[in-house]
Amino acid sequence: DLHNFSHIKTLCTTADTPKLDMCAADSSPPSNKQKTGIAASLARPNILALHPYRCARDDYSDGILLDANENAIGPTSLPTNSLPNNNSLVLERYPCPYQIPLKELYAAHRGGNIGSKNIFVGVGSDEAIDLLMRIFCKPGEDAIMTTPPTYGMYKVCANINDVGIVEVPLTEEFDLRITEMLDAVTDKVKLMFICSPGNPTCKAIPIDDVKRLAESPYKGLIVVDEAYVDFSTEESAIKLIETYPNILVLQTLSKAFGLAGIRCGFAIGYDDIIQLMNNVKAPYNVNKLTSEVAINAMKNISTLEKNIKVLLDQREVVAKELKEMDFVVKVYPSDSNFLLVRLKKLSKDVYKHMADNGIVVRYRGSEMHCKECLRITIGTEKENR
Ligand SMILES: Cc1ncc(COP(=O)(O)O)c(C=O)c1O
Repeated sequence: DLHNFSHIKTLCTTADTPKLDMCAADSSPPSNKQKTGIAASLARPNILALHPYRCARDDYSDGILLDANENAIGPTSLPTNSLPNNNSLVLERYPCPYQIPLKELYAAHRGGNIGSKNIFVGVGSDEAIDLLMRIFCKPGEDAIMTTPPTYGMYKVCANINDVGIVEVPLTEEFDLRITEMLDAVTDKVKLMFICSPGNPTCKAIPIDDVKRLAESPYKGLIVVDEAYVDFSTEESAIKLIETYPNILVLQTLSKAFGLAGIRCGFAIGYDDIIQLMNNVKAPYNVNKLTSEVAINAMKNISTLEKNIKVLLDQREVVAKELKEMDFVVKVYPSDSNFLLVRLKKLSKDVYKHMADNGIVVRYRGSEMHCKECLRITIGTEKENR
């Protein structure tokens, strides 16, 4: 009630001496401060010149909040398991655009010399893939490089953004052909997508290969998609970021963390690149329910470790069983939570037959080097039987 003097007084006091919470005080709000190094030399000029959207809460985030056209009466619905009046997330208010507590916990979980300024949080790593194309590739002019067979979203995103694709297939054993990749690079290739462990290959790319690319004359950004890294014994490329600002790592809570439903992914890299991603993203991309669950997950790493172990054990069991089947030609070694399996023949019919009988796997037989192949995710012990 603005006619009540004490309220007006509180309002004035709040405005004069704002109490800032994590959102406004310790965050890295959108900024168009001059970029240096790889961000400045690679990004589209319109992105570098962008005056990013400033949220109502960039300056003040505490007090009587009449700045963002929210509904102060409160939410009309709460998460299913919460008590009737438990609105601890204050759902009528917009989320913090910068997710600092989550970034700090994630940085601590991953280790190395990264901090919150090196982390972008997105609506899955798919959001980061799309943002990178929009930041670095001029539509109708620039290109990305991919190494088929690989994750399908790189191509879909490139097509949506009218960005070209230079494809340098992996070897039949699913290794990078680095010399051919570097030969195929042009000035237009702004991003190189390395999927490690690969989807659908299940094979991790040795970190030394990533290093070789980072040290090569290639001038663009090397994006290492590590969606499945927690199932692999190969090291994460995060540790290379400090030395190589041309490496950006993508990770996600969708796989080992078992949280595909909350849509939460990360890009980890050089701070100027992360700043550009924060400038370009939708201001409130990650919602409060997602960040609450993600933060809890960071505090529950023992469950993550336990679940990874179960899946890795099950991966061995399923691989062994499959190898004993006479219609299976090959079970590829896996660094992931799925197996790539080549059948003698009729893999598409097998795929359809399985689906008709309630077991849904993925037919990958049309992908490069994947003739007659099915991709099978490791389920629970009961499902795997
Ligand atoms: C290699 C790879 N990268 C990224 C993603 C997308 O992950 P997110 O759920 O974080 O968008 C997937 C999903 O299957 C994937 O296989």
